[in-house]
Amino acid sequence: MGGGLPEGRRVAPSILAADWSRMWEQVKSVMDAGARVIHVDVMDGHFVPPISMGPQMVEALSDHVHDAGGWLDVHLMIDRPEHQVESFARAGADSINIHWEATPHVHYALKAVRDAGCVPGLAINPATPPEAVTAAADMFEILLCMTVNPGWGGQPFIETSTDKIQRLRSLLPDRVAITVDGGIDAQTAGRCSGAGARLFVAGSAVFGAADPAEAYTQIAVAAGAS
Ligand code: DX5
Ligand code: ZN
Repeated sequence: MGGGLPEGRRVAPSILAADWSRMWEQVKSVMDAGARVIHVDVMDGHFVPPISMGPQMVEALSDHVHDAGGWLDVHLMIDRPEHQVESFARAGADSINIHWEATPHVHYALKAVRDAGCVPGLAINPATPPEAVTAAADMFEILLCMTVNPGWGGQPFIETSTDKIQRLRSLLPDRVAITVDGGIDAQTAGRCSGAGARLFVAGSAVFGAADPAEAYTQIAVAAGAS
């Protein structure tokens, strides 16, 4: 996709919770409702216990999503993400979020994302203090604040996250978009929006609903998103 991360507040449906037997149909339904950021959760069975998907999924969706004006936001819940950045960039990722806790080489990994032509994001687990990320703040455009422990969809939102988002917002430059990820629905999205989040990842609240397009719209309205 040309240009940068879509502007304004955005709800990013997470395909982890979609019906994988008809993946593009599911993604198309939320894009038709206005979604422009599609979130891809990659898990390696090591950094987090489950194994999910890899660059093949990004590649399978890339042309469809980009032709529809969308953005692929990849979340690497994998150890030593710097070794995998290139393959996700080649597959069509637009932004790549690596975890603070997954490598001793955070700065290097973020540089690898930028060098690969993608927008760099830094993700942090619930117990990682906001202050930890400031030293590398010039290296990322997205700060992904986990609002559940990474590894599974469908977990309840950790309530102390709203204070953490406010703190992150006060520490980081304005150009950095704060993503919230985990337990986001119409209620929690509103609270996170008030605290300063700009991207709202929602998996089960969107694709677990009877009508994902309608669920997307409700969360977007609650978040004040376009
Ligand atoms: C969790 C993933 C999330 C997940 C969110 O490890 O990073 O992106 O898909 O799922 P819900 O919205 O169901 O909490
Ligand atoms: Zn995620």
